[in-house]
Amino acid sequence: MKHTLLLSALLAWAVTSAGQNKNAPVNYDESQVPTFELPDALTCSDGTRIKTRKQWERKRRPELMKLFSEQEYGLTPLQTGIRAKYELVATNNNALGGLATQKQVRFVFTGTNGRTHEALLLLYLPNSTAKHVPVIISYNFQGNQTTTLQDDVIFSPSKDLMQSAGSEKWVRGEEQSRWDYETALRRGYAVATMCYHDICPDSPDLLAQGVLPLFPDYNEGQRTLSEWGTIGVWAWGYSRIADYLQKKESRIDGKRMVVMGHSRLGKTVLWAGAQDKRFRVVISNDSGCGGAALSKRVFGENIARITGNFPHWFCPAFNAYSENEAALPFDQHELLALIAPRHVYVASAQDDQWADPKGEYLSAYYAGSVYQLYRMKGLPQDQQPPVHQPLHYDVGYHIRTGRHDVTAYDWQCYLDFCDKVLN
Ligand code: GCU
Repeated sequence: MKHTLLLSALLAWAVTSAGQNKNAPVNYDESQVPTFELPDALTCSDGTRIKTRKQWERKRRPELMKLFSEQEYGLTPLQTGIRAKYELVATNNNALGGLATQKQVRFVFTGTNGRTHEALLLLYLPNSTAKHVPVIISYNFQGNQTTTLQDDVIFSPSKDLMQSAGSEKWVRGEEQSRWDYETALRRGYAVATMCYHDICPDSPDLLAQGVLPLFPDYNEGQRTLSEWGTIGVWAWGYSRIADYLQKKESRIDGKRMVVMGHSRLGKTVLWAGAQDKRFRVVISNDSGCGGAALSKRVFGENIARITGNFPHWFCPAFNAYSENEAALPFDQHELLALIAPRHVYVASAQDDQWADPKGEYLSAYYAGSVYQLYRMKGLPQDQQPPVHQPLHYDVGYHIRTGRHDVTAYDWQCYLDFCDKVLN
């Protein structure tokens, strides 16, 4: 017994302390991509071939959910007892030049241990229609106030915490180019945003300042192998925003909720979409390693780098694949496939080689086999399309020129896709 305990402690130590290689080499040369075998989304670990939706839903889907939970993002706690209260802090019926009703809503979470935590939602509802509207839910990086110049938008509560930790650029309007609210509103969409640090600060030293201490099994010590990382916590937060919109906002059509995220938050939306079936469309912008990009291509950012630089994003078990992608029993196309039969959209930027645009495309392409089970259309060929030629099937993809960013062009493509699949 003693030996077994010692052995498992040693094993846990070995696995968690691997994967810290911030300086692992990075490959940008297509000819150096290793030959790899991609796990088949429709073949179970015992070799069974999946032929029907029922088999997928009963056998293979749960198997993959388990793999992603135990090996990459960590387990999302189920019975949390955490309650949320919502306080309308401010309303402006004439925001953004009259286009929108702007609401700011404080979420107050309370755990069964009595601890509380606050986050602030910014919501725009289109004034041009009285109908139920679809909503795009998307976290921002540095506060609600950075997404617009509208001067009555309140600074997100995590600002003080993150600024004293050295993070800058919390300036009003700083990120407005990434938030094409006007176009979305004109096209009849509501948009909801919250700062992701409000849910859980993106810094290993500040994790106790977010929502985590409210969870009954919260432990501040050594992380267990499958303990969730912050991507999991942010995904949980996306579901809490969905709860609010569905339950409390009568103008929102709870059956047309879209979740969209950029970069680390593009990784987050995929995991949120795999877990929460209320998200009808999942849009992952420039998400790269640990997001849409296939890990086994080892092109651009790799597992050693990402777990070295951001050890708090994933569960410790993921470190075992650092400089060892070949050993992964799954790959990211299977994460995308978990979203079927709801819609998934992947977008890349040509100059964003760190995120491996080709790997992002291939992942979206290979998810197609599961969409076919539902008689839905995946992407038609394994060749990446040229820039600015979006592919809008039941799975969507585009690549644009330029760098790692979210642009008005990306928004336009997303709205076109949502119009097509939601209406
Ligand atoms: C870093 C990280 C990426 C991530 C990006 C971001 O570049 O290596 O994995 O997507 O930050 O979130 O901006």
